[in-house]
Amino acid sequence: MEQAFSWVQALSSFFVFVVGALLLVIIVLFVIDVTQTKHTVRRNFPVVGRFRYVFEHMGEFFRQYFFALDREEMPFNRAQRSWVYRAAKGADSTVAFGSTLNLSPAGTPIFVNCPYPMLEEDTSPALPLLIGPYARMPYEAQSIVNVSAMSYGALSKPAVLALSHGSRMAGNWLNTGEGGLSPWHLEGGCDVVFQIGTAKYGVRDDSGSLSDDKLREVGEIEQVRMIELKLSQGAKPGKGGILPAEKVTAEIAKIRGIKSGEASISPNRHPDIESAVDLLDMIHRIRDVSGKPVGFKAVIGAYGWLDELFEEINRRGIESAPDFITVDSGDGGTGAAPMSLIDNVGLPIKESLPLVVDMLCKHGLRERIRVIASGKLINPADAAAALCAGADFINTARGFMFALGCIQALQCNKNTCPTGITTHNKRLQRGLVPENKAKRVQRYAETLRNEIGTIAHSCGVAEPRGLRRYHCRIVQDDGRSLPMDEIYPYV
Ligand SMILES: Cc1cc2nc3c(=O)[nH]c(=O)nc-3n(C[C@H](O)[C@H](O)[C@H](O)COP(=O)(O)O)c2cc1C
Repeated sequence: MEQAFSWVQALSSFFVFVVGALLLVIIVLFVIDVTQTKHTVRRNFPVVGRFRYVFEHMGEFFRQYFFALDREEMPFNRAQRSWVYRAAKGADSTVAFGSTLNLSPAGTPIFVNCPYPMLEEDTSPALPLLIGPYARMPYEAQSIVNVSAMSYGALSKPAVLALSHGSRMAGNWLNTGEGGLSPWHLEGGCDVVFQIGTAKYGVRDDSGSLSDDKLREVGEIEQVRMIELKLSQGAKPGKGGILPAEKVTAEIAKIRGIKSGEASISPNRHPDIESAVDLLDMIHRIRDVSGKPVGFKAVIGAYGWLDELFEEINRRGIESAPDFITVDSGDGGTGAAPMSLIDNVGLPIKESLPLVVDMLCKHGLRERIRVIASGKLINPADAAAALCAGADFINTARGFMFALGCIQALQCNKNTCPTGITTHNKRLQRGLVPENKAKRVQRYAETLRNEIGTIAHSCGVAEPRGLRRYHCRIVQDDGRSLPMDEIYPYV
């Protein structure tokens, strides 16, 4: 009895202590809030005003589950993401009852099905396509859908491993991004596109210039099939970057060719390329040293420079041309970039892709230079529309991130990615098991290819690259659609 009494006494003293401590904390916060002068809401609504920050933060995670409609969120809505998740899991990709897609907004693509679609037995998947006929080692690319540039550093080791294994199983290429070539890119045995960014990571000398010796070593790796020179990317045209010292681990330093523990700066442009002449000289040099096909990646804004470039190619001879151009959309993704560049600089792919294709046609270079399109082409309809506009290949980064399990938590720049994809926190990486996710990468690539094919067959076309602008209509401001070849007439 006496013992029970002392328990009740202890518990009640504890309760009084907790309530007292809580009151004290509230009083302290109250005083801090009313006396501080930086935050209006906290000054006007002491203590309760603080919940605003908590809810704002939590809202990022919970909106998508409780409030957002299927077609509402950005950059990708639930319907777009769910399609990738289902494709990656190999789940049933059919939907019931009818479309939830509003067909009225301007820009919506509508494909023109034909009365006599292709019979299954008369169709074929996209055929392999040769890139770089004048390189010592041309590349016959097998897959029409491929993994867009994302560096090891932006991505975690298990994410790169899953992409590498999955890409080998699906037969697509994996682009290294600008952070150099890591053993994890190669481990799965897939085809690799080596990207050279403005800091020339992986192929630079001590001063940050291109090193022919290092480039030769990269070119000697059989798995490296092509080299992409990055002029710009959609999310941050004209922006370099700084890799903070704490991120420059011994491993990253070795892969990138920089000093361990020291911050590294990427210039906002290749210091040695400032004209069409420089660009073609650099492409020639890289192709000559590496032996591999070479192209460049850019987001298009101003476009007069393309005329200059194509005229210079025709002056030098078509061998001098880049073997491919990767056209990235102004609304492309990245690990981290200023909002002004992410939002408002660079043309979206819907405009830039037909523009580039038409300029290539005008200069008689369409057959010589392959066109790769990227930027929110994560679902079959968007990818098929890009093929109608004239793309030869589709690249996607965020599509494959969703296949890896990305939940669009928008934390790629914080090292706190809850799905282990863009974090170097080992605890968070634990959830991403490469063997399992590699299978998802494979299924996503295969299902995307198949469903692009399904759209093509419905339009009476036997294989995806047979899609033309007249197979797609684009909804206009007044809600009516116009054929793409009327909006962008063939040159
Ligand atoms: C995490 C992340 C890292 C990226 N890193 C690079 C890079 O190193 N080099 C590059 O050219 N593009 C990079 N990108 C851009 C993508 O390659 C791609 O061009 C862009 O995201 C548009 O494709 P998407 O809409 O399919 O993601 C990155 C994108 C993401 C999301």
